[in-house]
Parts: sequence; C-alpha cells; structure tokens
Amino acid sequence: MTGRPPARLHEQIPLAQPLLGDAEERAVRDVLRSGQLSLGPRLPAFERAFSARLGIGHASAVSSGTAGLHLALRAAGVSDGDEVVTSPFSFVASANAAIYERARPVFADIDPRTLNLDPQAAAAAITDRTTAILPVHIFGYPADLPAFEALGLPIVEDACEALGAVHADGTAVGGRGHPAAFGFYANKQLTTGEGGIVTTADAGVKARIDSERNQGRAPDMGWLDHDRLGFNYRLSDIACAIGLAQLERLDDMLADRARVAASYREALADIEGLELPCEDAGGDRRGWFVFVVQLPRGCDRDATIGALREQGVQSKPYLPAIHLMSFYRETFGHREGEFPICEDVAARSVALPFFPELTAGQIERVAAALRAVLHR
Ligand SMILES: Cc1ncc(COP(=O)(O)O)c(C=O)c1O
Repeated sequence: MTGRPPARLHEQIPLAQPLLGDAEERAVRDVLRSGQLSLGPRLPAFERAFSARLGIGHASAVSSGTAGLHLALRAAGVSDGDEVVTSPFSFVASANAAIYERARPVFADIDPRTLNLDPQAAAAAITDRTTAILPVHIFGYPADLPAFEALGLPIVEDACEALGAVHADGTAVGGRGHPAAFGFYANKQLTTGEGGIVTTADAGVKARIDSERNQGRAPDMGWLDHDRLGFNYRLSDIACAIGLAQLERLDDMLADRARVAASYREALADIEGLELPCEDAGGDRRGWFVFVVQLPRGCDRDATIGALREQGVQSKPYLPAIHLMSFYRETFGHREGEFPICEDVAARSVALPFFPELTAGQIERVAAALRAVLHR
C-alpha cells in the first residue's frame, strides 16, 4: 500500500458549471464595504441594465424565477378557481406558481419540434375560467408568442431558461410587454446564485410587483403602511451586483454556449436515432441554456445515464412530465396518455454536460462515451 488514492480513470465532466470571476468578486466586495446589502443602489441599477438589454420598459428583480412567476400571475389577475393554460413539459415551478394562487394549471400538449406549448392545443384547452396563458420558452427556444397573443388572453411568460433568445420579429424573449419571469439559479445563462427578474412594459405591473416582493409595502417605502398582501421575494444588493457584473459579459457567455452547442451538434450528428435540440428556424433564435438530446426509441435511459457516469460523464433525465409527478397525479388525477407528445419526449430526454467553458476535448469525450454506450 502506498497510501495514494486510486487513480481515477476519468475526470468527471459536470453537468453545469457557473462562470464567475474577478469582476463578480470585486462587485461583491464593493457591496460588502458599502454597508447597503439590500434595497440599495444595485437593485435599480441591475433592473435598469436588464430592461435596457431586452428593450423593455421595466424590470423588477426578485428572489427567484419561481417568485417572479408567482408575482407575474398575481399581476395578471389570476386568483381562486381560475385556470391557467400551460405546458406539461417544463420545470415544475411554472405550474406550481398557478397553484399558489389557488388556480388550476391546465396542461396542453407540446410541439414535437420546439418542445414548447403547442398554440393549437392551448387554444383547445381554454374554457370560460381561463384567465391566463403561461407559455414556457423551454430550453431557451422561443415559444410562439404571436400565436398565443392571437388568443386574446393575458399572457405570463416563463422565460427562466431563455435569456438571450430572440423572436423572429427581432424582439427579445421577455421584451414583448407581457410579464416575463427570468431565473438566475447557478446553471442559468446569467447567475446570481439564486434570483430572478420580471420584465414588463406596464409601469403599473412593475409598481405592484415591487410592492408585493417587499411585504406589500407602499411605493413611498413607508415602514408603517403595508397596503396589500405581500411576500419577502427581495433580491439582495449582493446578488444584484453579481448580476450587473454578469450582464457586462453576457454576450461572451452566450456566444460560448452557442459555440459549445454547435460543437455538440457536429460531434453527435452520426449517432443513429439520437434526436438533437431543434435548430433555429423561421427567424427565432435560441438562447442556449442546456443541451438535451432524446435517446433512440427503445433505449434504456437509466442504464444509459449509469453507463455515462461510469465513463465520467454526468447526465440526467430532463425534464420529467409535470402532470405525471405524484403531487399532480394525486391532486388533479392526471394519468399516462393525456399528453402523448410530452410523455414521449420526457421519457427519452437526457441533459448532457453544458456550460460556456466546456472544451472541445470534453465535448469529444461526451460524444465518444454516448456513442459507445448506445452501440453496446
Ligand atoms: C422553466 C423554468 N421555470 C421556472 C424555474 C424556476 O426558477 P427558480 O429556480 O429560479 O425559482 C426554472 C428554473 O430552474 C425553469 O427552468
């Protein structure tokens, strides 16, 4: 025995790796020394920089994407007994946000190409209790907003995965005027550790969200008057400072993500039956968030993920169908077969390692491992 740890055959390639550096460190240090850790000057500065970047009038920073969705739905007037039409192929928070207001998320199936809520299916799910439509820009690919806008109902956008995405008409995702929630969790295009922001064209919506994120305090910030029900959904100045520093280099980070995605596309092109994320079409542009492939039909996903792990490649099933989660089955009586496109996609989807600094060598290793595992 030499006492040396056993050599590892492969370094693990992680699923995600936040890209933070000296600029963020300096920004945080400045806040710590300023003595204004929350509700200080970085909050409006971050909001202004973010809204300017998207070409929209207003933004309200909040503690998470989920908090943003909750307040955006409240601002859209969603309440007790209402229905919100949304996608079953999303992170669970988009549907949960409706339930916070005692509304019912009503799912409709997805488009098999974009994996976003299908506007026709959504239209068919509308009833006289529907008060809002909540499209999700899944995996950063723009949902078909013009088609949803034609349905004439209030819209709340889940843009948590879609910073940097652009609609065919040139508007940024989150820049069309509807309240749109972005998330800044550590795996996102821009991260503040935890955090989120709601963009809106409506100054009244901004005022309401600003108040409700801060315990319902009146706009003059008087301590004594809380003129509505509110929450603590504030984002600290520490987080806002990180966000400002991240915004400065967002273009570079987005370009690196796009470069990694293009390399994956090339490296995985020859694997038979493997479906890659859809290419941009019709002028819509994805803001790259994750690289999710759909395994060939008949392939054992769990075994594939396990075999990849043995080769030092992290991956995970992403995303499970929301309506088939136990809480949703038990609460709303959902069953298999209701949304066949979503269920098929959800059963075959695997997220591969994806972050701006992924190297060409690591991409090759992931591709080689996946090829070997699938050809076994
Ligand atoms: C589609 C979608 N919606 C909502 C959320 C919730 O965001 P957060 O984790 O910041 O609350 C996320 C983030 O993970 C997401 O991917």
